Amino acid sequence: MSKRRLFVTTALPYANGKFHIGHIMEYIQADIWVRFQRMQGNLVHFVCADDAHGAPIMIAAEKAGITPQEFVASIASGRKPYLEGFHINFDNWHTTDGEENHSLAKEIYLELKNKGLIEVREIEQFFDPAKGMFLPDRFIKGECPKCGAKDQYGDSCESCGAVYSPTEVKNPYSTLSGSTPVLKKSDHYFFKLSDPACVEFLQNWTQTPNPQGRLRLQPEVLNKIKEWFVQDESGKTGLGDWDISRDAPYFGIEIPEAPGKYFYVWLDAPIGYLASLKNYLDKEDIQKSVPGVLGFDRFMSDPQVEQYHFIGKDITYFHTLFWPAMLHFSGRKTPSSIFVHGFITVSGEKMSKSRGTGIDPLKYLSLGMNPEWLRYYLATKLSSKVEDLDFNPEDFTLRVNSDLVGKYINIASRAANFIHKQFNSQLGALFPNGESLVIELQSSSATISALYEEREFAKALRETMALADKVNEYVDQNKPWELAKKEGSQNELHAVCSTCLEAFRYLSIYLKPVLPELTTQVESFLQCAPLTFADAQTRLGAGHTISAYKHLIQRVDEKMLDALFDIQSDSSSKADHGKSLSNNSKPTTADTALPSNGDRKEAPGGEEIAATIGIDEFVKIDLRIAQIVTCERVEGSTKLLRLMLDAGEGKQRQVFSGIASVYAPEDLVGKLTVLVANLAPRKMKFGISEGMVLAASHADEKAVPGIYILHPWPGAKPGMRIH
Ligand code: 2FM
Ligand code: ZN
Repeated sequence: MSKRRLFVTTALPYANGKFHIGHIMEYIQADIWVRFQRMQGNLVHFVCADDAHGAPIMIAAEKAGITPQEFVASIASGRKPYLEGFHINFDNWHTTDGEENHSLAKEIYLELKNKGLIEVREIEQFFDPAKGMFLPDRFIKGECPKCGAKDQYGDSCESCGAVYSPTEVKNPYSTLSGSTPVLKKSDHYFFKLSDPACVEFLQNWTQTPNPQGRLRLQPEVLNKIKEWFVQDESGKTGLGDWDISRDAPYFGIEIPEAPGKYFYVWLDAPIGYLASLKNYLDKEDIQKSVPGVLGFDRFMSDPQVEQYHFIGKDITYFHTLFWPAMLHFSGRKTPSSIFVHGFITVSGEKMSKSRGTGIDPLKYLSLGMNPEWLRYYLATKLSSKVEDLDFNPEDFTLRVNSDLVGKYINIASRAANFIHKQFNSQLGALFPNGESLVIELQSSSATISALYEEREFAKALRETMALADKVNEYVDQNKPWELAKKEGSQNELHAVCSTCLEAFRYLSIYLKPVLPELTTQVESFLQCAPLTFADAQTRLGAGHTISAYKHLIQRVDEKMLDALFDIQSDSSSKADHGKSLSNNSKPTTADTALPSNGDRKEAPGGEEIAATIGIDEFVKIDLRIAQIVTCERVEGSTKLLRLMLDAGEGKQRQVFSGIASVYAPEDLVGKLTVLVANLAPRKMKFGISEGMVLAASHADEKAVPGIYILHPWPGAKPGMRIH
């Protein structure tokens, strides 16, 4: 069979915040599927981008005193540690504010317009007279029209659950300015989804299989969609026309021939999938270096190319109706399938948008927790259904320790030493009982591949672990440790240990999409080429030499999970102090040194107060309030962040600060801090540092990790001197 060509994306995250565990779960799910497809020999382009546009980002940037572009860039600069940290291997990360997206969005719109599917209508909306802008629903608050609860959002009441339109809210006010919004008319552009041609297309598209003969949508998604097509009494279909324009001021793409009108962010966001792919495929070096890469236009016009989007259940409507209709009526390929997943809960608790879910992905990594534990654990819970998935700490520990360490890695560690010490690191011939076991492992390849293909990862791993159980039973029955002591049992010992390592290689093939780094180490231990599913048809074979066995994966230490969920230590938790929480974590000197009363024995903060100086010396240090305009990680340094500071001088200063282990760059943007403004500039490896920001830390950073940047009280303004 010839190679399949696939274009795969996850949803594009809004560029107004860092990743939470929900993003990481989606990316891991898609990454596992992509790695599986590549292991099948298929060509996959896997891309994503920041969803840059919209009113909330524009407003957040304004609050931070920077342009939306600067704001988005600072969020984007913080993405890498998450993606690399969890072994999520996108081929490209772009932005919907890129040039490709601007032109593709305009092209698609003009094609829809040519088809007669765009209509201009006047609508009436709330307008904030103080800010001079129309207000999105989420920026309007007031009293619930049903129960009278105060301070409810413009679209629903958190107190009684009622859903209403912003114009029904009593005593409405703008959350941006506090002023009372007024109703104002304006022309809006609509995509005529209710057009009979659209309705017919969508009914057909959602309900018929894709050219590969597979469902485009999961059964539960399809059921939900049927509700959206239901006709009312007048026979009108439930599909309403879609308002795709927003008035200036708006951070977005201006609509052609419509000055002051912008595409609503949800119009250009999915087009960002194509834009990121175009940005990737049209790069000269990619075309030269990646085999089989065609330019964007050639790739997308190939009818064999399959297109898949992994998304959360909350954005199904956009992806199963608007997006296919936009693509189809602009003469483009529609998605082969949309893969919808549920949400992640932590110990049964729903995710809070503002707090995340209680698992901070960077904190997880900084504690020294293995990213492949999380990949494995999530995969044991993922299926093709739209189900919520719960992260339970006890279950996590049990799964990883019992499956990965106890069942899988144990097989290699039980066999490898005998092969090294007694058989010169070479495998031998198998005995019949070993042969039949290995054949069983080999013949499971088709079942396990089919499960991965259907995104039934939990089932694929259950099958794999059932095979691992069989191998462990085989070891228990054949007792290599006894054979090693028994005269005349050398051949049998060699056969048993060789069987174990052949079996271990099959298990490694089946686990590789989930555990890419661990299996890379396995490949070097087994001295074999990168494993693919085709390797399930081969063997290492008698005479094959392996490398020395080094322990391949640690067990989960419960103390790490305690630290991960420890709210108390949250502010310091992002620090790179995971090392002190390794397997044998003991109370540190600092833990025991903290005095509980006035009987202080240790120096404060771990160091004695410095020698006295006079005020004349203090005033030589010019401390100023500065605003952090942008903040990014420094390539090549795990410690440093590069800050651009505004200290009211009409220019910005670049300052490097060793706080990367504690703060995510996006958390600092817009914040005020304290700058040593008259420190002589210092030339550092990464550039000139024009000053220093003040931060507190314990003298013994190992014992008491964490470094805390100073943050002035409200009212302080950039440039003010600190006396
Ligand atoms: O819900 C969200 O986070 C959106 N930013 C998803 C956009 S997906 C695609 F359409 F870009
Ligand atoms: Zn109410």
